[in-house]
Amino acid sequence: MENKKEEYSFRKKEKEKERLSRIRPKKIKRIALWALPVFFIVGGIYLWLNRLPENPSPEQPKITVFYSPTCACCADYIPYLKRNGFSVEAVKTQDMLSIKEQYQIPQKMESCHTSAVGDYFVEGHMPAEIIKKLLAEKPDILGIALPGMPQGSPGMSGFKNSKWTIYGLADNEWFEFLSL
Ligand code: CU
Ligand code: CU
Repeated sequence: MENKKEEYSFRKKEKEKERLSRIRPKKIKRIALWALPVFFIVGGIYLWLNRLPENPSPEQPKITVFYSPTCACCADYIPYLKRNGFSVEAVKTQDMLSIKEQYQIPQKMESCHTSAVGDYFVEGHMPAEIIKKLLAEKPDILGIALPGMPQGSPGMSGFKNSKWTIYGLADNEWFEFLSL
């Protein structure tokens, strides 16, 4: 009697195992069926946002962006500026070193591309609102720099995960212009 009971419960357990092994692959398949379209839709929206029609407005001054033709994040920064109302002149150059020298940008302040707007230089992946602030307030400086290529900055991928310090150059000295 006891044996039969044990055998019965053993079989029950085996059946349950078998049932679960049939369900799990199905569940994974179902999740994959959902995840794939979601992944493509989100990816599509992201790409579409990056390629929105460009709308330079006549009120915004022209900004010239000097960058290396092989720089992908530089190429992504240009449509960002256009989306934010700037009229952009994109200048590809193999000689970024001369550009950095021309605008007196030392290595520690360097990013990939260098822009010129009004009488100022703007180094790196600078947010558009900072450039607009610079143009509106017209401080007596030569330009501003966001050194490096911080994650999540315009034209860069990912999300902002650190404090950004933007430096200004005046009288041959770099100072903290502002931080974000
Ligand atoms: Cu870059
Ligand atoms: Cu760049």
